[in-house]
Amino acid sequence: MLHDLTYLHSILANLPKGQLFMLTDSHTAEYCLPILADSIGENPYHLRTIEAGEQSKNLASVQAVWDFLFKHRATREALLINLGGGMITDLGGFAAATYMRGIRFVNIPTTLLAMVDASSGGKTGIDYNGIKNGIGTFTQPLATLIHPNFLRTLPATELLSGFAEMLKHALIASPEEWIRLLQLAQEELPQAQFVAALSERGLLHNSIAIKEQVVAQDPREAGMRKILNFGHTIGHAIESAALENSLQPSTFNPQPSTFNIQPSPSHGYCVLWGMVAEVYLSVVHAGCPREVLQQLTQIMLQWYGRPQCDCKQREQLIQRMYQDKKNEANSLPNFTLLRALGEPIINQHLSDADINEALEYLFSL
Ligand code: GLY
Repeated sequence: MLHDLTYLHSILANLPKGQLFMLTDSHTAEYCLPILADSIGENPYHLRTIEAGEQSKNLASVQAVWDFLFKHRATREALLINLGGGMITDLGGFAAATYMRGIRFVNIPTTLLAMVDASSGGKTGIDYNGIKNGIGTFTQPLATLIHPNFLRTLPATELLSGFAEMLKHALIASPEEWIRLLQLAQEELPQAQFVAALSERGLLHNSIAIKEQVVAQDPREAGMRKILNFGHTIGHAIESAALENSLQPSTFNPQPSTFNIQPSPSHGYCVLWGMVAEVYLSVVHAGCPREVLQQLTQIMLQWYGRPQCDCKQREQLIQRMYQDKKNEANSLPNFTLLRALGEPIINQHLSDADINEALEYLFSL
């Protein structure tokens, strides 16, 4: 259920004394925690801060959170507040889901990516042995509290990373939302106005609502929740290749724009590139109108730039798609494609030659 920060009052009203716990990262402890002061009021809480960054999303950090909860005698009635980006909401959610077989947790996402994706839907987890989200649970937070003002101080790359997931939600579920996001992109607003438009025009709210509607129908990803993986088969391959330096971050080549973009292959960028290739596949194999590909390509060139890659790396990317955890045993890589805007189809299997053609398109732009 989505709420704003004021909802904390009612959550905290009946909490036993000494049972409020707060997890932050080193940035959110400094910049975001003070903003919660009014909502927390006089309620005392125990605070644990984890070093910011995806590299902290590991078993050692989970143990640190478990130790923190044990040390301060958290009981089954305890509440853990996860204040941060996806690393914190995934990690804290997992620690809470497993501590004493599960305590309640509230997510307060501080990045656009975490607001529209990671903090809702109940996926918790950590990276394990180099596998992103290799260990985790499906456990719903008690609530996700959205405070759009956190977006005001985000770097442009963080905003664009989250905006990619908003584009994904529109592509898979809502032609109307797609038009509204295209309109926003065409306006080329300065960053502060872009952020204001996300909440004032209801775009943030609508994007989260799309995700929540999908999850409500298939919380454990048995079938239709896979539509949320649109763009991720190719996107994850690019992301993990970039992380392992097969594609050096310096080879990513963002275009100049109204945003001050630093070259870095963050999750949303990789998803955006993956979506361009997967819309290409949708045009060729599922009848999606070419206009959608042109529109998404335009946004990519305007804001995200493109990953550069040689032929050998392209083969490596395809190999990575075979290792994706969405695949069934011994099958070709599994894709969600679009028949049209808002008409996704899951479990589409495509050959190496087909995938290679889509990569050719992406890397030729
Ligand atoms: N991030 C996709 C999902 O939550 O299913």
